[in-house]
Amino acid sequence: MKSYFRKIIENMTGYIPGEQTGEKGVVKLNTNENPYPPSPRVLEQIRARLSERELALYPPPLSDPLRVVAQKTYGIPADWILVGNGSDELLNLIFRVFLDKEDRVLYPYPTYTLYRTLALLQEAHYQEIPFEENYQLLPEELVQGEAKLKIICNPNSPTGTVVSISEVEKVLAASACPVVVDEAYVDFAEENCLSLLKKYPNLLILRTLSKSFALAGARVGFLFAWPEMTQGIIKAKDSYNVGIMPQIAAQAALEDIEYTRARVEQIKKTRSWFSSELAKMGFVVYPSQANFVWVQLPGSSLGFLYQGLKERNILVRYFSEWPDALRITIGREEDMKLLLEEMLEILK
Ligand SMILES: Cc1ncc(COP(=O)(O)O)c(C=O)c1O
Repeated sequence: MKSYFRKIIENMTGYIPGEQTGEKGVVKLNTNENPYPPSPRVLEQIRARLSERELALYPPPLSDPLRVVAQKTYGIPADWILVGNGSDELLNLIFRVFLDKEDRVLYPYPTYTLYRTLALLQEAHYQEIPFEENYQLLPEELVQGEAKLKIICNPNSPTGTVVSISEVEKVLAASACPVVVDEAYVDFAEENCLSLLKKYPNLLILRTLSKSFALAGARVGFLFAWPEMTQGIIKAKDSYNVGIMPQIAAQAALEDIEYTRARVEQIKKTRSWFSSELAKMGFVVYPSQANFVWVQLPGSSLGFLYQGLKERNILVRYFSEWPDALRITIGREEDMKLLLEEMLEILK
C-alpha cells in the first residue's frame, strides 16, 4: 500500500516499551512498577465516590480537585500544577509547545529513550551528550549549549544515578530556554529540585504516580512550573486529558502519603541489600537512587542473561542500545532472592 505517513513517521522505529504481561507466575522486574499495591484508600475511594452520573459526565478538565490535594502535598500553588495522563503525556506536550522543526534539544546520555522519539516527531535536532564521572556529573556542553529545550532525568534512567541539585542549578542559571527535570523516580532519592522552582521561571519539574505510588495503571503525572508556563502548555492539551477514575485514585493516594513513604523505605532497603549481593557476584552496580539498578558485567554482553531469566519467568530490562547492561527493577525481597538464585544458575 502507498504510505500516507509523514516521512519522519515512515522512517522511525517508534518507542519500544518494556514487555507487559498479565501472566501469573511471572516475576516482573522490567518496567519499574511498584511490587506493592497502592494505598487501600485508592480502591475504597473509587468505590465510594464514583457514581454513574460521574461516569456519564466529562471529568474536571484541569483535574482541579486533585490539584487542590497536590497543592497541600507538595506545597505548590494549584495554578503551578498541571496534571497529565501519566508524565509521558506531559513530556509529549512539552516537546510540542517548545520545539519547532530544526530546533535543538539537549540532554545527557544515556537516558530515557522516549526523549529521542519525541524529538524525532517534532523533526527537531537532538543532541545526546555523554554524562561525566559515572553518570554523576552533567557535561559542560549541556550547561552552556544553545538550545530550545534541555532535559535532565534525575534520578536518571536507565542508570539510577543522580546529579546534585547544584549541578542542575548550573544548567538553569546558564540556559535561556526551558529546562525539564524529569523526577519520575525522585521519591526513592535523597533530594529533589522543588526548592529551585520559585527562583527559576525556566524550570519544569515532572513527577509521576506510576512508581512510588504504585499507580502505573491509573496514568497520572504532574508538571510543576510557573503559571505562565502551565497556561501556555494547557493550550496544547486535550480538554479532558485525565479520566475521573485516575483523578479519584490520585487524590486518595496523595491523601495517604504515609502509606507510600513506608513502601518506598522498604524498596530502598531491598535496593541496598540487592546491590551489595550483585557486587559480590562481580557485577558493576551503579549507585542507585531509584527503584531499579543498572548492572554491567565487564566485557560481557548480557543478552544471554536476559534471555535465560525470561525462560525462567523473570523479566528484567535489556536494551539493544546498551547490550553490556541490564536494568533491574527492585521488587519484593523474595523476588530478588529468586532472581539472584536464577542468575547464579545461568552464570554457572
Ligand atoms: C524517566 C521517566 N520519565 C517518565 C516516565 C513516564 O511515566 P508515566 O507516563 O507512567 O508517568 C518514565 C516511565 O517509565 C520514566 O522512566
